[in-house]
Amino acid sequence: MEYQPGKIYEVPCAEIMMKEDRRQYFLPVIDLPHTDQAFDFPHRHYHIDGRFAIHPRMKHRLQISGGYTATIILTEGTAMYDFKGVVKQAMVFERSETGLAVPLGSEKYAKWYAGYVGHSCDGKKCPHLGMEMLEQDGKLVCPLHGLTADAATLRIIQRILPSFNS
Ligand code: FES
Repeated sequence: MEYQPGKIYEVPCAEIMMKEDRRQYFLPVIDLPHTDQAFDFPHRHYHIDGRFAIHPRMKHRLQISGGYTATIILTEGTAMYDFKGVVKQAMVFERSETGLAVPLGSEKYAKWYAGYVGHSCDGKKCPHLGMEMLEQDGKLVCPLHGLTADAATLRIIQRILPSFNS
């Protein structure tokens, strides 16, 4: 779907309640809950969809910058919030970039990524979990774990990491 900056869309959001003051927030998420055994992360979670406006408190607490964050939304077991579920909410589209800010130099990630180089993303679907890839700077980028493809060949290429400073 083509989103327009400044326009409002009904998108999946994680409903959470902060444990410290019981305040409730809706955080836009990519509606593909999963675990990441490949990164030794067996906890069920959602990724934040940083393309949409996020409450400043949550932006700060979850360290979301320029649409990117290293934080995910756990469905249980966090000391910060209670996860209530995923519901559709009206949110403002802000930018086309989002994704996981993977620690640079993570050997596990680099190894995992290298295993996908050359794989096909037919239909612009990520060869990892079938997520729809986003077009960014003439490439296709998966908003979940960052597999990046050449838009013409639809093959995964070595990743050029985005700047997380904006
Ligand atoms: S679903 Fe993991 S990189 Fe695409």
